[in-house]
Amino acid sequence: INMADLPRTVLISGCSSGIGLELAVQLARDSRQRYQVVATMRDLGKKGTLEAAAGEALGQTLTVAQLDVCSDESVAQCLSCIQGGEVDVLVNNAGVGLVGPLEGLSLAAMQKVFDTNFFGAVRLVRAVLPGMKRRRQGHIVVVSSVMGLQGVVFNDVYAASKFALEGFFESLAIQLLQFNIFISLVEPGPVGTAFEEKLLEQVSTAQFPGADPDTLRYFRDLYLPASRELFRCLGQSPQDVAQAIVKVIGSTRPPLRRQTNARYCALTALKAVDPSGRLYVRSAHRLLFRWPRLLGRGLRCLACDCFPTRVRPG
Ligand SMILES: NC(=O)c1ccc[n+]([C@@H]2O[C@H](COP(=O)([O-])OP(=O)(O)OC[C@H]3O[C@@H](n4cnc5c(N)ncnc54)[C@H](OP(=O)(O)O)[C@@H]3O)[C@@H](O)[C@H]2O)c1
Repeated sequence: INMADLPRTVLISGCSSGIGLELAVQLARDSRQRYQVVATMRDLGKKGTLEAAAGEALGQTLTVAQLDVCSDESVAQCLSCIQGGEVDVLVNNAGVGLVGPLEGLSLAAMQKVFDTNFFGAVRLVRAVLPGMKRRRQGHIVVVSSVMGLQGVVFNDVYAASKFALEGFFESLAIQLLQFNIFISLVEPGPVGTAFEEKLLEQVSTAQFPGADPDTLRYFRDLYLPASRELFRCLGQSPQDVAQAIVKVIGSTRPPLRRQTNARYCALTALKAVDPSGRLYVRSAHRLLFRWPRLLGRGLRCLACDCFPTRVRPG
């Protein structure tokens, strides 16, 4: 048998909903049956949606397993149940968000974001890396965000956790090339998943004690409506994002970075074309604080494709 023809074992974190769920299903239903998917979630009580979406693939090319990325024991237990113990493709997808005025958020809440988004991925990578290095083969995919490339107002800590991933995995990519192991950071823009709903729910009940009235007002009256408009105009479906990840996993020379949202590229370009950072920070500031109506119009314009998107995702 040609080793290249054997199905690759893909382990995905955070498959109870959203991008992880979609990705697990799309890979498991691959027409060439190239993948054996271990779809994991921290709470198996939520596996119903995934199992229904997987249909006939369940028990064939897809198995569901418990995995909490914040727990060493859970990671060890999960890997010990994988046949042969070997993961060919690891997808770090599990993540949580956090928005709001910094002065109104607890340090514990911020640490939870880093524990999940950053250290959760690090924990999994440390667990699968020895096997990948021994076999001189592997692919580590990280679901980052456009907020791993540029900061977004009132998303300070979430963006920081994604920047941390970008720095960590770019550094690691250099060493791992020597072992024939590839790293890919996938950077979606806004995606219509439970993620945003959960955040808005948190925000609507949160009091943000400690935040001053001006900041609170900017957050509630300017940021929140702009954010909703951004999701409405530029939001991608989790199916689209999963499809982009399937492509990255299937490619023979996977890219280090891959943005999934062509429309959002107009915004990431503001940083890319001016390394001083001034263009991006000033444009974002003006759009939000001075010309919020222009921001809404601009977003709707991007959404209607009335001008050509010059910068395409790589
Ligand atoms: N939605 C967006 O706009 C957007 C944009 C760019 C990037 N992303 C990134 O995409 C990834 C997936 O998010 P999504 O949009 O698909 O949102 P989602 O539907 O909320 O999915 C997040 C998943 O992560 C899981 N998770 C949270 N903490 C975990 C832990 N400690 N251990 C294991 N799993 C855990 C959640 O499980 P529970 O159901 O148990 O909470 C859920 O399955 C995240 O890394 C997110 O940062 C999202």
